Amino acid sequence: MCGIVGYVGKAVAPDNKVSPSHRPQEVVLEGLRRLEYRGYDSAGIALAAPGMTELASAKKAGKLTNLKNEILQNPLPEATAAIGHTRWATHGGPTDRNAHPHLADNGRLAVIHNGIIENFAELKAELVEAGVTFLSDTDTEVAAHIIARCYKGTEDLTEAMRLAVGRFRGTFTLLAVAAEDPTTVVGARHDSPLVVGLGDGENFLGSDVAAFVAYTKDAMELEQDQIVTITPTSVNVINFDGTPGKGKTYAVDWDAEAGDKGGFASYMDKEIHEQPQAIADTLRGRVDANGALQLDEVSIDESVFRAIDQIIVIACGTAAYAGQVARYAIEHWCRIPVEIELAHEFRYRDPIVNEKTLVVAISQSGETMDTLMAVRHAREQGAKVLSIVNAQGSTIPRESDAVLYTHAGPEIAVASTKAFTAQITAAYLLGMYLAQVRGNKFPDEIDSLLSALKAIPAKVQTVIERGEYVKATARSMKSADSVLFLGRHVGYPVAMEGALKLKELAYIHAEGFAAGELKHGPIALIDEGLPVFIIVPSPRSRTGLHSKVVSNIQEVRARGARTLVIAEDGDDAVRQFADEIFWIPNCPTLMQPLLAAIPLQIFAMELATTKGLDVDQPRNLAKSVTVE
Ligand code: M6R
Repeated sequence: MCGIVGYVGKAVAPDNKVSPSHRPQEVVLEGLRRLEYRGYDSAGIALAAPGMTELASAKKAGKLTNLKNEILQNPLPEATAAIGHTRWATHGGPTDRNAHPHLADNGRLAVIHNGIIENFAELKAELVEAGVTFLSDTDTEVAAHIIARCYKGTEDLTEAMRLAVGRFRGTFTLLAVAAEDPTTVVGARHDSPLVVGLGDGENFLGSDVAAFVAYTKDAMELEQDQIVTITPTSVNVINFDGTPGKGKTYAVDWDAEAGDKGGFASYMDKEIHEQPQAIADTLRGRVDANGALQLDEVSIDESVFRAIDQIIVIACGTAAYAGQVARYAIEHWCRIPVEIELAHEFRYRDPIVNEKTLVVAISQSGETMDTLMAVRHAREQGAKVLSIVNAQGSTIPRESDAVLYTHAGPEIAVASTKAFTAQITAAYLLGMYLAQVRGNKFPDEIDSLLSALKAIPAKVQTVIERGEYVKATARSMKSADSVLFLGRHVGYPVAMEGALKLKELAYIHAEGFAAGELKHGPIALIDEGLPVFIIVPSPRSRTGLHSKVVSNIQEVRARGARTLVIAEDGDDAVRQFADEIFWIPNCPTLMQPLLAAIPLQIFAMELATTKGLDVDQPRNLAKSVTVE
């Protein structure tokens, strides 16, 4: 949820004299710009420099631009260390006073936080009793005062953090900086993301690598329940129990430019256009010298894959729809029952999971708390967990038994697009891998599936190039206040994904239905002029569903619906029943979601744009949901 940046560096000149600069402020503001997708209810910064009796800080409700304007009007001093925060509000409304950083000890210590301190009320009562005055409604301010009190007792910020975290329940990443120690930033993580950027004479902390990738590609993963202390020349990790800790270093595999808009009007537009590449990159390098499919990091023995008798896919939102699509393919290819479950429901229903269960966790960010908790629950029950994740260095892959990365590059827009198609691609690779290991398919059958998948990026490109007609249709529907989406088989999760895109971007009531369910209730919603998207299976599909869906189109049209049909090139049977047709190239039935999703993404983006809405940062949302 919230974005966190910490920086120390460039403090000591060759003559060993302190030479502060504006770099800490620049680095933190740039980091916040790149992390703003994590939350945009408010933004703030705190700076430390030698000689300061209290920290300099600024914070503003609303988007980062408000903070930048505030700093332009009231410039901040030069500094040697800085922390910055972009917020998705949990405790306390999105106001100036609730914006982070929160200060304690008369402005001498500042704290930023991602997560929720669940026992904040009891800690606050204790502090109020001791005479502390609170200036915000947040749980974070409680943490700031506790850390400040521990700091007074120890005069060591790392030890203060260590003592303080022992008092917190919940989930948190916390960063602290103190006026007395202006070349140190201390961070702590418990079930919330934090990575370290390793620089030359400077070091960084961030919620993810986007915070510092403009400055360094050398990163370090931390484990849960660790504290990291950065100075310009050192990075020291300890565990919450005080024992020495160790991080795992790695090189970030994308450039800072990948996180820029690259000439597109929005990140979402750019990411829609990146889908051919994202799918191709996810497929790349998956076949070994013997022609066998391979995954990324697997500590699951092939014998375990052969022994599994069920697969449960856990994910949230768009990632769950990707899982739902994949279910059709995996069951068909591997003849294993596949269940798909929303991660936040999974562990609360006492699922039947054991060592013969393969749990597949799908997540773009690799940090979604609901999914992470479900992963932990599954492993506790003895299941093996394989994750399909986009963000390198994130928590879910680290806590999984195996990982298959989607190489989609950074996805910045809150609405997921390229992650969705890359997740389907990766899940299909997993299906093929299982079919290979379990002997459900001959190598030449796997080859032909892989070839069909490899042909998809060019077809996605074709769909994108046809986007202008989709956009024109969207512009004509500015006043729509409800839109339905229908699909069958793999088209059903695509319908739900289309509805989700429209809800989150254009704030329109939208629902996706299995078209077969229509006559069991939802058809009562059809009214004169109601827009209904219908995803039509290929007329060549052996599922026999094409004619059923064509009947569904007629049923809704007969009741006055405006039919917006996604159909394969040359499908003449649908033409006469469609008010608008968005054509997609021919492809095997199971691959169709990779094409059919694209017009729906473009439609939602364009309709939101036409309504003057921010497509990259829709209201109330954040890119990565790191609280339950
Ligand atoms: O990072 P994750 O893939 O785990 O995120 C899951 C959902 O929060 C995410 O897909 C969300 O539904 C998107 N905003 C939808 O566009």
